[in-house]
Amino acid sequence: MPIRAFLFDLDGVIVDTAIYHYQAWKRLANELGFDISEEFNEQLKGVSRMDSLDLILAHGGLTLSDEKKNELAAQKNQWYLELVSRMTSDDILPGVATFFSQVRKAGLQTALGSVSKNAPLILERIGMADAFDAIIDGTKITKGKPDPEVFTKGAAELEVSPAECVVFEDAVAGVEAGKRGGMFVVGLGSPDVLTQADLVAPSLNDLTVDQVLTKAQ
Ligand code: BG6
Ligand code: MG
Repeated sequence: MPIRAFLFDLDGVIVDTAIYHYQAWKRLANELGFDISEEFNEQLKGVSRMDSLDLILAHGGLTLSDEKKNELAAQKNQWYLELVSRMTSDDILPGVATFFSQVRKAGLQTALGSVSKNAPLILERIGMADAFDAIIDGTKITKGKPDPEVFTKGAAELEVSPAECVVFEDAVAGVEAGKRGGMFVVGLGSPDVLTQADLVAPSLNDLTVDQVLTKAQ
């Protein structure tokens, strides 16, 4: 089936906010008296704010009330917002601009598929608020990745079928979401980590739209 749409994750694919999420969670864990490693952080990528907090608390052996958890999640988000507040278009990852111009030339539709509630703010800051035909973010979904909802909603909004979509993801949970949604998934990162992806490259800077289309259709 010909590919008609590309669906992009935000954090770690378009912009390197993954590092800021990690720094803010690490700070929170440290305040709670334990640490999280970069390796542990791989399971947090693509996972919603509350699900991430649950994984972190379980890792630290802590059980807390919902009220306390809401307080900690809000604290993490405040630190995260401080870290991203200085972002500009200079923070867009290498290769994204070139890749998006190839996407447009190829006549493909685009959607953002991010579980982040901060996605609209980040897009605004980096000047990409108008770069997508559809935007599905954390405020529009009920289930985070690895549930496919964020991508199936994007496909529905673009009026294309899952088999006509390619998903671009840097997270294990995001790759799984795309696969469960019935889509071709390009993993951006390490093939040792993104084992479920149909194709893996270090970043969008290492791919052309033609290469992706040749593999996907
Ligand atoms: C994803 C990130 O894009 O958004 C996760 O990969 C993050 O690390 C999730 O937890 C939710 O983000 P936010 O901005 O709503 O806390
Ligand atoms: Mg990501």
